[in-house]
Amino acid sequence: MITITTRADLRHWTGSARATGKTVGFVPTMGSLHEGHRSLMRVARSANDAVVLSIFVNPLQFGPSEDLDAYPRDLGRDLDVAAAEGVDVVFAPTVSEMYPEAMVTTVHVAGLGDDLCGRSRPGHFDGVSTVVAKLFSIVGPCFAYLGRKDAQQLAIVRRLTRDLDLPVTVVGCPLVRETDGLALSSRNAYLAPAERAAAVVISRSLRDVADAVRRGERDADAIRSIVTRAIATEPLVTLEYAEVRDATTLGAVTALSDETLVALAARVGNARLIDNCTITIHDTGVEIDLGVIATPAESEA
Ligand code: PAJ
Repeated sequence: MITITTRADLRHWTGSARATGKTVGFVPTMGSLHEGHRSLMRVARSANDAVVLSIFVNPLQFGPSEDLDAYPRDLGRDLDVAAAEGVDVVFAPTVSEMYPEAMVTTVHVAGLGDDLCGRSRPGHFDGVSTVVAKLFSIVGPCFAYLGRKDAQQLAIVRRLTRDLDLPVTVVGCPLVRETDGLALSSRNAYLAPAERAAAVVISRSLRDVADAVRRGERDADAIRSIVTRAIATEPLVTLEYAEVRDATTLGAVTALSDETLVALAARVGNARLIDNCTITIHDTGVEIDLGVIATPAESEA
């Protein structure tokens, strides 16, 4: 595995790989790698000849009062994880390498980024969209692996890739959870033990939703209430939003239909955590995607 720190070297490396007929799998991250990230690397590794992982804590996507400085960083450990997963290249640029001049260009995906997490994080998805467009431009034609943990981000990245005709195939991958259901997140590191214990209510609220849907519930307001009621039982957890949306357009829906996203954000101590599930109503029944539990075998890999 090699580490590349400049845009020019990465562009050259991926170009050479493609010139010899290799497919390139690309996993963009902000580091502090956990099982969620590892699952993306594994899918990329199994499906491509060459795998590139980027590690870049992107200042553009942090608001002025957000956790840019506190965001966990451990490049040495991340390099070990990437090597263990068979990554070929880690792209770890500095901020000045990625943004040598003040950025005056912003990628804004109208509509999709203003709501849900965008409401409490104004400008966040512009920062994500801008860095992802830049990374896709540097990596060039590739398959890019993103987690369904960040369902709004995934919808936005799919849309900007289509709108800008970027030569990238975006692949959505399953949300990975701890054994007790908590969605893996680098921000879980902020949780004190009591908060960590309380945070399980977030995924439990989605399991309550799944149970109700299996019993026949289809109404969006009723589903939101299930989440609200579950979260209200846990004083250490404060719900920011619970929404039921079309999984592709993120537009509001009144009842479950094709592919519907049930998404929530909650504050637990200093951490802002998000979670979701996707529900698809077929003629023949319902399909509920709550993600997967990280298996011990995966942790040891
Ligand atoms: P980061 O939060 O590091 O996440 C990198 C990728 O890992 C994203 O695609 C995210 O959805 C995925 N991921 C995180 N936790 C996951 C989990 N529990 N299960 C499955 N996938 C998970 O998302 C970002 O970085 C940044 O916004 C980025 C896209 C890199 C742009 O800066």
